[in-house]
Amino acid sequence: MKNHFLVVCVWLTVCLAPVCAPAGQSFEVSQFISPDTCSGCHSDIYAQWKNSMHGLAHKDPIYQKVAKFFLTGLTDPGEVEESESCVKCHTPVGVVSGFPKKTSDDWSKTPEIATHGIQCDFCHSAVSAEKMYNNGMVLSPGNGEADPGIKRGPIKDPVPEFHEAEFSEFHTGAEICGTCHNVKHVAFGTDLETTYDEWAAGPYNSDDPAKRVVCQECHMRQKPGLPATGSTPRPDNPGYASDIGPERDHVYTHYFVGANNFVPQQFGDTEKTAMAVERLTHAATLTLDTTGIKKGRLTVTVSNTGAGHKLPTGLTNARQMWLEVTVKSKKDGQVLYASGALNADGYVADSATVYHTIFGDGKGKPVDNISLAREILTDQRIPPGQAVTETFKLPAKTPCKDVVVSVRLQYRICSQKLLDLVLGKGALSVPVVTMAQIETSL
Ligand code: HEC
Ligand code: HEC
Ligand code: HEC
Ligand code: HEC
Ligand code: HEC
Repeated sequence: MKNHFLVVCVWLTVCLAPVCAPAGQSFEVSQFISPDTCSGCHSDIYAQWKNSMHGLAHKDPIYQKVAKFFLTGLTDPGEVEESESCVKCHTPVGVVSGFPKKTSDDWSKTPEIATHGIQCDFCHSAVSAEKMYNNGMVLSPGNGEADPGIKRGPIKDPVPEFHEAEFSEFHTGAEICGTCHNVKHVAFGTDLETTYDEWAAGPYNSDDPAKRVVCQECHMRQKPGLPATGSTPRPDNPGYASDIGPERDHVYTHYFVGANNFVPQQFGDTEKTAMAVERLTHAATLTLDTTGIKKGRLTVTVSNTGAGHKLPTGLTNARQMWLEVTVKSKKDGQVLYASGALNADGYVADSATVYHTIFGDGKGKPVDNISLAREILTDQRIPPGQAVTETFKLPAKTPCKDVVVSVRLQYRICSQKLLDLVLGKGALSVPVVTMAQIETSL
């Protein structure tokens, strides 16, 4: 018995380890089942997921343009390596089944199934994650529709058809999200995105089960009209996990809405862009203190009350959140002071209070291309559950009576500067969302 066990172990190590080592996991594309097939019995979940940023992760035109643009002109091997790695998370089924392997591959040859980005059979074939960054997902898919294998999820007593099903604790934790929502430069190790780490270091990662709020509890409970943030209710969603299954007390939704209020609309989905706005408008609160106005001082406090991670999070060298402060004369509406207003080109001035990340080339020079990011120059964002206070200095002689002071917390998914760089000047601008606002008359 013992000997057999040993032999099996040695055989497993010698023969299987090199092929089965998670980093090098590779499968046939025919092993994966199209989301269209899943839709046959999971029609609600499919409709929610379609045109989500997961469903669009490969087709997203902003991603495609940025990824191909960042490749151009690179020679440093580390920079090239990073620039070639984008498909790992944006086209994950392609990467594990052979094509595309690199950003520079001809994406028009991408197998149809892989164009569906982060899809049903990728997440529900997952068994664990080998690392908490750069997509270390360990998969155990079936063999296509003839032998679909086990789909794993949160239901403890599933009564499936077509495929087998199994409860998986991994699917109920933040780690299934964290393995992709932490992005590290593959050569320089620079932290490019740290959503999971921000969550892990924050109050929502509590040991007290009553206070613990994982990604799914906010992002997979949202429905139109129900943003499900840290500051709004996150009720159960009774219904059916499958069109042909039993009724359940709670079914997780699959809209995967974050802040992207632009891309789903490009695919005709206005519901998801509206949901992103609902999320953004329930993420933060503002308070304004005008007691110092006689001394030419306005104080604004921004609190991250709704996000489970920093505000903003994700790709924060592209994302922009900023304060727009104006003091106007009550009489004629004349602007006496303004900070954070967009200029004629749609840019936010450097002097404004902007919450984002700026990467550097290793010698202190800012870079827009993440492939070149050897350091973080500044990272000004608001941790979960925390607040920051900003002081605005008004010009001398600004009247402190008969004025209207207004403050808006603004957000857009991409700075105009980056859009201009990648797409050409003025080719595209994305909508600005007011996350919170406050106005006082003095
Ligand atoms: C990004 C990964 C991901 C993708 C893509 C995804 N799911 Fe899920 N799904 C999950 C997670 C995680 C849960 C469980 C959430 C929890 O328990 O906290 C879940 C739950 C489920 C459930 C159980 C429903 C319930 O909560 O009772 C079904 C069924 C399901 N998914 C089907 C699908 C189908 C069909 C698709 C494609 C249209 C899909 N999923 C796409 C991650 C994903
Ligand atoms: C022929 C119908 C059918 C098709 C096609 C189908 N499923 Fe299911 N699936 C079901 C039923 C029925 C259940 C059980 C629902 C329940 O018990 O509430 C289920 C349950 C699940 C669960 C929950 C497992 C758990 O224990 O939490 C997941 C995940 C899942 N399916 C994923 C998928 C994926 C991914 C696809 C496409 C590759 C797919 N299903 C295709 C019928 C189907
Ligand atoms: C295979 C890697 C992968 C996994 C696993 C994954 N994500 Fe994502 N996720 C992405 C990528 C890539 C995008 C961005 C696609 C784009 O913008 O083009 C994204 C986008 C999102 C967005 C939308 C962001 C926005 O700006 O609107 C949300 C919300 C999100 N993911 C939540 C989750 C949650 C919750 C989980 C775990 C249940 C999860 N993700 C698991 C890769 C992943
Ligand atoms: C307490 C609720 C809550 C939890 C927990 C939470 N989020 Fe969020 N998330 C939000 C809110 C609100 C927003 C919209 C504001 C923003 O952009 O940060 C958001 C936005 C996002 C975005 C888009 C950010 C952007 O600006 O592009 C991503 C991606 C995301 N979340 C992923 C995650 C992942 C992954 C986890 C778990 C590690 C997680 N979230 C946990 C509430 C939450
Ligand atoms: C480890 C996984 C991972 C890798 C590798 C990765 N991304 Fe992403 N990407 C994400 C996630 C997660 C998001 C969503 C973040 C958010 O919403 O802010 C995202 C979002 C984006 C977006 C925003 C799209 C939009 O519509 O706003 C762009 C652009 C992007 N990635 C470009 C790239 C490029 C270029 C590369 C390669 C140099 C790359 N990504 C590599 C995970 C990854």
